[in-house]
Amino acid sequence: KDLKIGEMERITVDYVKGILLPTSTCEIWDQIWNFEAKPDDLLIATYPKAGTTWTQEIVDLMQNKGDVDKSRRAPIYERIPFIELVIPAIQCGLEQANEMPSPRTLKTHLPIELLPPSFLEKNCKIIYVARNAKDNMVSYYHFHRMNKGLPDPGTWNEFFEKFLAGKVCWGSWYDHVKGWWEAKDKHQILYLFYEDMKKDPKREIQKVAEFIGSNLHDEVLDKIVHHTTFDVMKQNPMTNYTLISTAVMDHSISPFMRKGAVGDWKNYFTVAQNERYDEDYKKNMANTSLTFHFQF
Ligand code: A3P
Repeated sequence: KDLKIGEMERITVDYVKGILLPTSTCEIWDQIWNFEAKPDDLLIATYPKAGTTWTQEIVDLMQNKGDVDKSRRAPIYERIPFIELVIPAIQCGLEQANEMPSPRTLKTHLPIELLPPSFLEKNCKIIYVARNAKDNMVSYYHFHRMNKGLPDPGTWNEFFEKFLAGKVCWGSWYDHVKGWWEAKDKHQILYLFYEDMKKDPKREIQKVAEFIGSNLHDEVLDKIVHHTTFDVMKQNPMTNYTLISTAVMDHSISPFMRKGAVGDWKNYFTVAQNERYDEDYKKNMANTSLTFHFQF
């Protein structure tokens, strides 16, 4: 906890079934794969930086009937365990989950083919959130810069190449969003989009309420909308990750709550990169009905 910036090494990474993951996760892969979900578990699944924390806070507030004080009981990563996260000697998502009383809400970034099978076997409810690839990439780049829990991203140009090749932690964005999209009608999966949440948060929050069977008055929904706006969450230490040691996350490099916008990619993609990406996107998304908004 008292470590200073620079005193902590960046993590190393490895592969599980062709997907790049932190080595600490790979090392306990058998345990993760054999995780025993319970039928009343609610899982929030995302590609990293697609709006996980936002969705977690919405769900937690909903479960507490909009009681903001209850949602301030602990940082978001303690309220909702991140099942495949292992920070040796500090945090283990599996242990957190196993110690938690039911009904549990859990978080994962795993692509569906790496999801522990018990979640689908037990027919758990799953909320998946997807974000357009370009904003997702920019957000992930900045998160790598400030977070020692991910490899060094190199320059923007270098990261762009790695992202395009799917050689980043949790694998290819394409495979992730498409894999979950294809599964959504066969299981209890609510598939949401970051862009829709930005555009009409109340409508999307209502979808979540309906999905998890939470019957809340309109005023409570309005309260949840307010408390989960970017500006409010950015100021809230229980959601903005500032309680994590600065040796791990250095918000002076880039804050966790960075911009929270749609279309920020335009400030990073060069014209050439944009053309290349569009080309690659067309190829990879040709076989799916899934579509995204890249701007409003
Ligand atoms: P940016 O880096 O584009 O700002 P995750 O929680 O999956 O790690 O995603 C983090 C991204 O979601 C960051 O994107 C963060 O700012 C954004 N975010 C977090 N809370 C948000 C909110 N309430 N509204 C909009 N965006 C939010």
